[in-house]
Amino acid sequence: MDKEFKRTLITTALPYTNGPVHIGHLAGVYIPADIYARYLRLRQRPVLLIGGSDEHGVPITLKARAEGVTPQDIVDRYHKLIKESFEELGISFDIYSRTTSDIHHETASEFFRRLYDNGKFIEKESMQLYDEEAGQFLADRYVVGECPHCHNPHAYGDQCEACGNALNATDLIDPHSAITGSVPTLKSTKHWYLPLDRYEGALRQWILEGHKEWKTNVYGQCSSWLDLGLQPRAVSRDLSWGVPVPVEGADGKVLYVWFDAPIGYISNTKELLPDTWETWWKNPETRIINFIGKDNIVFHCIVFPAMLMAYGDNYQLPDNVPANEFLNLEGDKISTSRNWAVWLHEYLRDFPGKQDVLRYVLTANAPETKDNDFTWRDFQTRNNSELVAILGNYVNRVIVLTHKYFEGKVPEAGDFIDIDLAAIKEMDELRESLSTRLETFHFRDALKDAMGFARLGNKYLQETEPWKLAKTDMARVATVINLNLQICASIAVAMEPFMPFMSAKLSSMLGMGKLTWDMIGRTDLISSGSEIGQSELLFEKIEDETIQAQVDRLVNTRRENLIKNFKPAPQLADTSIEAFGQLDLRVGTVLECAPVKKSNKLLRFVIDDGMGTRTIVSGIAQYYQAEDLVGKQVVFVANLPEVKLRGVVSQGMILSAMNADGSLTVISPSAPSTPGAQVK
Ligand code: 2FM
Ligand code: ZN
Repeated sequence: MDKEFKRTLITTALPYTNGPVHIGHLAGVYIPADIYARYLRLRQRPVLLIGGSDEHGVPITLKARAEGVTPQDIVDRYHKLIKESFEELGISFDIYSRTTSDIHHETASEFFRRLYDNGKFIEKESMQLYDEEAGQFLADRYVVGECPHCHNPHAYGDQCEACGNALNATDLIDPHSAITGSVPTLKSTKHWYLPLDRYEGALRQWILEGHKEWKTNVYGQCSSWLDLGLQPRAVSRDLSWGVPVPVEGADGKVLYVWFDAPIGYISNTKELLPDTWETWWKNPETRIINFIGKDNIVFHCIVFPAMLMAYGDNYQLPDNVPANEFLNLEGDKISTSRNWAVWLHEYLRDFPGKQDVLRYVLTANAPETKDNDFTWRDFQTRNNSELVAILGNYVNRVIVLTHKYFEGKVPEAGDFIDIDLAAIKEMDELRESLSTRLETFHFRDALKDAMGFARLGNKYLQETEPWKLAKTDMARVATVINLNLQICASIAVAMEPFMPFMSAKLSSMLGMGKLTWDMIGRTDLISSGSEIGQSELLFEKIEDETIQAQVDRLVNTRRENLIKNFKPAPQLADTSIEAFGQLDLRVGTVLECAPVKKSNKLLRFVIDDGMGTRTIVSGIAQYYQAEDLVGKQVVFVANLPEVKLRGVVSQGMILSAMNADGSLTVISPSAPSTPGAQVK
């Protein structure tokens, strides 16, 4: 931790209130931010954890339209649900407010007005997409089309979720309206643009020179955007839901949601600390950390900093933006529209009192450097084999032994011998490593260190065997139990950022009072003679039936989605078997596989088809590394006419299954088959 910082302002991405929050949000943003805030508080450093709901933007109006209610109804419903479920999960926000608040509207309005008055915007009439049927302009998510960068067919008018690029609606290939499905026309309208290009030099300097320590995924994304060159971006929209543009003649126009949302961090701080908020935003001794998911990087590292630079007045830029990758669920992308998610409020209902289990599993599996997968089986294993078997069991044994041999009073330790000193030394090392990893946002590894105290305790208890010593040497038993209790106390502190509910229970059993970070590793935390409580269960086993119920729910969701999207091929006539026979399906072995030049979708295969080799081009490059497919067997259509794709002649078609999220999985025989074998 750099000495010059006196306080830390932590922000968490403001979730859109068009639905509840799910485990992907938690793993990527809220749990890591909460861990960090709790850690800094234990270190007694001044810290604020700022959160709130993002209540503007098109997804909310689309949802309201679909339900026939007002946008305000939607945001009221989800703001309440999200706020309450965060609280129940123990996310320790200093404030969780909302962008429909008066103070936010005033702050965002004033921010825009100052940039406007100081000539920081370009004002321009331009042709924008317009839905004639709906009689409105199609901003942002009102329009869907093909991404000009990665050719994802489902990109939105403001961003492509597949490649993360920020887009203008008019950049989309084959756009269509999300309201009526119609093809939009172009109509002229006036908007205000922030000329990001003017800040390119300063952003380069700040990020590429000044923040080489940022996570590689964040630094890498920033450097590619900066290398592509920045363009002016519109900061207003033709919509009725949002913060009105505070300029005369701007009726029917609101601030772009990505202009007002990050200002929400400022408004919420202001709401919390009306007199001192500026110290947290404008004092260079404040360190600002933005916790976000990877789809928000461009807005936090490029757009919002450019806005702050344009505003001036000493606003501080973030010191770090430790963005995470995405969490998948049982192998598929989490999706609100497909209901493919574990929703926080449902988890809290189905697993009452098990907040820490979710916090633990999502941290142990956090998508810090790459996308990761959440599975219910892994959740069960981590609970049963780690939390119950290692942590809970250890603490329980120590407390039970204290009651058995010392009537629940902490015995006095005698002189330590080598095995005790080795355990103490290991605690010191764990504390150092844990602190470093927390300071540098490596929360998965930090959690391993924190669990290290429980592993160390188990080993120490197993090796010292106080139940055997009790027959001969009660003084030594006292020392061993005392040290075990001190280890338990260290666990209570080291685990507090990760599992605050367990930590509170354990520290109260041990009678510890207020916890501070420097307690970790100490051998005098619990004074001899003090009484400890009865052992209470810290974790309980999760049974197969409980997990199966969750898996069944997902299987059902998958089935419902398939039924909803099922487009049957035309019914075949009686001679269907002949129709099928017209396709010559065969097994082939992949001899070579490489990307097709100038295409990010196509792979070129050379296949052993039993009689020789043939080349086939297949559009699955997004889902596989070419080299991983070499040696695999595939099923292909062998009797198609040759076609040329990007200059490569393709002699057939490889069969794949299209999954619920649109990804493709190549079909292979279940056991090695003879190349050329016909599929019957
Ligand atoms: O991606 C999202 O869910 C946005 N609502 C995040 C906004 S972050 C901040 F700028 F408010
Ligand atoms: Zn894209």
